[in-house]
Parts: sequence; structure tokens; C-alpha cells
Amino acid sequence: MTGQPIPVIIDCDTGVDDALALLFAVRHPGLDVRAVTCVAGNTDVDGVVRNTLTVLEQAGAGDIPVARGAERPLIEPVRTAQHVHGRDGMGDLGLPAPTRVPVDVDAVTLLRREILASPRPVTLIPTAPLTNIALLLRTHPEVVRNIERIVFMGGAVAVGNATPVAEFNVWHDPEAAAVLLTAGVPITMYGLDVFQRVLVPAADVQRLRASSEPALRMAGELLAHRDPATSGDPTPMGGLGDAGAVCAVVDPEGITTELLPVEVALAPGPTRGQTIVDRRPVPGESEIHEGTREQPLVDVALDVDVERYVKLWLTVVEGA
Ligand code: RIB
Ligand code: CA
Repeated sequence: MTGQPIPVIIDCDTGVDDALALLFAVRHPGLDVRAVTCVAGNTDVDGVVRNTLTVLEQAGAGDIPVARGAERPLIEPVRTAQHVHGRDGMGDLGLPAPTRVPVDVDAVTLLRREILASPRPVTLIPTAPLTNIALLLRTHPEVVRNIERIVFMGGAVAVGNATPVAEFNVWHDPEAAAVLLTAGVPITMYGLDVFQRVLVPAADVQRLRASSEPALRMAGELLAHRDPATSGDPTPMGGLGDAGAVCAVVDPEGITTELLPVEVALAPGPTRGQTIVDRRPVPGESEIHEGTREQPLVDVALDVDVERYVKLWLTVVEGA
């Protein structure tokens, strides 16, 4: 990390792992979190706002503006992931209610304001369905001139969670994801393939849970929330999840990416919401006989240095 802190805005659906991402972001000295915007996803948008305000207060970052965004996808109804994140979206840990309220403008307005006001180009870090980002790009396309890169947690090369082939954030609002991919700015896709691998060892989780600091105890409880032994959830305990996308902003050397064509499957049916990543070295018969369909090029994360990101996250979160 060299030079001035990177100006970032996180768009989230807090969310057990969104909380881990927020805690890391506000504590990393190389990031300047300009705002946090909320969208329906893991839970309803008002629950996301409540959880986000709580996490920022617990993290000692209660001064960062938070705005409420889309309460449902562009086309689909809200389909939450409360079976993974708990009824309240935060593992039903009974965390204290926030003392603050969100700002009095909506998420798209706050995003536009903070992006255009930033003296240096902003990096956007969506860790949720992309509804707010799509609305921003369609309502205020001028923001593109001051966006450095969009590093989003979403999509997948070869795995799925919401469906056998689709990742939740993209599946939740496929049209919004398709709008993102044509934003005309550099994009990094931190997908499910790498997302699922970054796990904090049980001993570290237990240390956090025993911490005298409330924010670290919260982090430990969130990491432990998905312990299969307690919740029966197949997702392994200690997943950093969305926090890995923020690690990829401060330490891009920790992921291996390839610039590849990516398309979102929008047709109704079993593939809707799949991110189709074209890894072929040469065109196939489809292009030869039917012509090439240009797809946006995205820096797709194909590998991640798990130990590197776990150490980075622990060092920053515990060291602050
Ligand atoms: O598929 C995983 C993603 O969906 C994560 O961002 C999780 O928080 C949910 O939003
Ligand atoms: Ca999320």
C-alpha cells in the first residue's frame, strides 16, 4: 500500500459477511470509506440499514454516511437469504440497535454525490445484489468519469449457491448485474469460486469470540455463525465472504485474475442469473457459423491466496 488512502464506497446487504467486510474496510489505513449504501438482499433493505449502522458503530466508524437504497430488484421480487444470515440478517446475535439514522437522501443520490465530490477517482465495492449500482449507472451515467474501478462480490466461474450455476447477488437481480457489466469502467469480479475458499481457522475465531473488544467479539460470533455443527449450514465456519472483495482492493496481488468475456444469463429457467465466463482460447463453432456476440471484458478472479487474505484481515481487524 503506497500513497494516499483509496477512496471507496461499499454497497452492501449486511449480512453476516458484509459486516466482516465493513469492519475490515473502516479499519484499513489504506482505505477512505466515503459512504456505505444499502440494498435488499440477505434481508429486507430496512434490516440492512439497521445492521449496517450497528456494524459501523461497533467498529467505531459511526461518522460514515449510510443511505437506504432499493427495496427490491429491478424485475424480481425480494428473495432473502435469511436461512443463511438469520432472521435479522446478522446471525440473530441480538446486537444493540443503532443510535444513528441513515442520511436523508437515497442510496443513488449519496453514491452520485460522493463519487463526483471525490478529488480522486472512487473504487466501488458492491457486496450485494447490484440494484443500486444499476440505478446509479442509468440515472447518473456521468459518475463513470470519476470511478477508478468496480470490484464486486458476485457471480461465479464454475460454482453456484442460489442455484447450481448462479451466485446469490447476481441471481437476486440478474438485470442489474448485466447493467453493471456494461458500465464502461474497469471491473473485477470476485466470485463465489474464490469467495468460498477464504476461511478463518477455528482457533482464530475462538480468539475473536473471547476478545474484550465488542467489535472483535461481534466478528468472532459472525464468523462462528455458520458453523455447520450449530446451524447445519453446509457453508463452512469462518468464511470471510464479502471481506475478500475488500482485501482484493487493498491487496490485488492476493488474487489471480484473467480478463475474460462475462455474460449474465437472463432467460427464465435453470440458468437465469448464471455468469457465463468464456475461458475458451479460440472462438467456437457458434461464432464461426453464427457470428461473434461481443461481451464485456471483466477481470475475473480465478484463484486467491487464502492464507494471505486471512492474515491480512486478522492483522487489520485485530491490530486497529
Ligand atoms: O453469494 C454470496 C453473497 O450473497 C454474499 O455477498 C452474501 O452476503 C450475499 O449477499
Ligand atoms: Ca453481501
